[in-house]
Amino acid sequence: ALVSLRQLLDYAAEQGFAVPAFNVSNMEQVQAIMQAAAACDSPVIMQGSAGANRYAGEVFLRHLILAAVEQYPHIPVVMHRDHAPTPDICAQAIKSGFSSVMMDGSLLEDMKTPASFAYNVDVTRTVVKKAHACGVSVEGEIGCLGALEANSAQDHSRLLTDPGEAVEFVEQTQVDALAVAIGTSHGAYKFSKPPTGEVLVISRLKELQQRLPNTHFVMHGSSSVPQEWLKIINDYGGDIPETYGVPVEEIVEGIKYGVRKVNIDTDLRMASTGAMRRFLAQPENASELDARKTYQAAKDAMEALCQARYEAFGSAGHA
Ligand code: G3H
Ligand code: 13P
Ligand code: NA
Ligand code: ZN
Repeated sequence: ALVSLRQLLDYAAEQGFAVPAFNVSNMEQVQAIMQAAAACDSPVIMQGSAGANRYAGEVFLRHLILAAVEQYPHIPVVMHRDHAPTPDICAQAIKSGFSSVMMDGSLLEDMKTPASFAYNVDVTRTVVKKAHACGVSVEGEIGCLGALEANSAQDHSRLLTDPGEAVEFVEQTQVDALAVAIGTSHGAYKFSKPPTGEVLVISRLKELQQRLPNTHFVMHGSSSVPQEWLKIINDYGGDIPETYGVPVEEIVEGIKYGVRKVNIDTDLRMASTGAMRRFLAQPENASELDARKTYQAAKDAMEALCQARYEAFGSAGHA
């Protein structure tokens, strides 16, 4: 069944787990996510970005997720709009049936320039009023994630979410979930070495939770950048430089401090790219023209990755 983010995260908080939120833009991803969820009995969050809308088209994207809801009636599914840049785009998502939206007012409409606190409160509060009247949840964001916000201050501590500002933001906006910045960034290039507590600041979550014990936190940029997939991609013709993501065990640590939604896109891209490169490189597949077999290899790889995340974050068994 389609559920709101608030419904799902309230339950996750009660039970002490988090739910991976996977970005989707095609059928293979949706099916992999759902097959893994069915196999381990996990609730699901699927989210569409502006890029996903451009790739699949808003109608196809929505119907792919609704097909998942219909095919798996016993699994709770949140259909979420990731990083909406304006209240109008949130309103559009609500109108087309999304059960949750992220108003990203930490950036201006260009999605590059860091916005003022007052602007962020203003646009987020506007969306919360409209969304709550429709039973739709709202995720807000405060702080600066690395890659999406390349123009922001060099001073690292300035990039992290300030606990005092977070308290004010939640009070003034009444968001259902709060995306916080703790040193992660979008994409594959998060850290040039395995991250220490100085660049991946899990301790900031602890401080935030002390001030906001009832707020559901969201971690963006939470792909783990599996070294085994990186190697497979490179072994089969790829050229990805050395890079590191957010270790699963650090996310599990964050879950102790109120993280309830964990955004993952890059890991599924890596698993599918690696699996398709490997499949096509096999001599026995050299004359294969049934592209479904290539897509199936990608689906299998993504399904295994999704199930590993459901299990690690504790959502398995909670559908
Ligand atoms: O928010 C970032 C996600 O990884 C979406 O990426 O805009 O390329 O779909 P995308
Ligand atoms: P990754 O690039 O780490 O997968 O993050 C995705 C994300 O945060 C989408 O909002
Ligand atoms: Na931000
Ligand atoms: Zn994000």
